[in-house]
Amino acid sequence: MTELSLYDIAGTPGVAADVSHINTAAQVKGYAGDAELGAALKDADLVIIPAGVPRKPGMTRDDLFKINAGIVAGLTEACATHCPNAMINMISNPVNSTVPIAAEVLKKRGAYDPKKLFGVTTLDVVRAKTFYAEKNGLETAKVDVPVVGGHAGITILPLLSQARFCCFFCLTPDWSPYDRVRVVNFIP
Ligand SMILES: NC(=O)c1ccc[n+]([C@@H]2O[C@H](COP(=O)([O-])OP(=O)(O)OC[C@H]3O[C@@H](n4cnc5c(N)ncnc54)[C@H](O)[C@@H]3O)[C@@H](O)[C@H]2O)c1
Repeated sequence: MTELSLYDIAGTPGVAADVSHINTAAQVKGYAGDAELGAALKDADLVIIPAGVPRKPGMTRDDLFKINAGIVAGLTEACATHCPNAMINMISNPVNSTVPIAAEVLKKRGAYDPKKLFGVTTLDVVRAKTFYAEKNGLETAKVDVPVVGGHAGITILPLLSQARFCCFFCLTPDWSPYDRVRVVNFIP
């Protein structure tokens, strides 16, 4: 990565200054407010959208949707204008709805490529791995549990029948004799 643009409605320059001190070659710039959104997105290859509000006590998913839907639609519209070929990773919740909203905005602007729009559900994957490893007495870092579907309630589908104790690690030097015995005895 050569360039990282951070955008928020306010307060971004300070965060960008802190992030720029991380020891990488990437140039970090902060952009704040509507007037700077275009410059932040210009010709980006990858846009990650975590903008919006998280659910607070007393808030329904509908309340969350009403606020975040507008935010996501506005940001996606700007992507269609300033970086129509970018991959878009959607973190803002409810992901099951914000991804279709982004898709519709991009379709209207002739910039929709289903291979370039993603809902981020890594949280579900790390949780599935943690629960699976705990249940089976394994090291979390050495299990792989594919998760498909969406990012809410019953739409999250960990494929436990496909879970594996990662063979990749069998080939690494940190594989202890104890691990080797475990994997031989392990039936997923
Ligand atoms: N997909 C996932 O696994 C996952 C994980 C964690 C959080 N989330 C979701 O991410 C969202 C953010 O959560 P958070 O805890 O980081 O909240 P947060 O309040 O800490 O941060 C959200 C940021 O979005 C900014 N923002 C608001 N409107 C904006 C706009 N129009 N343009 C740009 N930025 C804007 C706010 O100023 C704030 O800095 C929530 O919807 C939350 O549910 C999703």
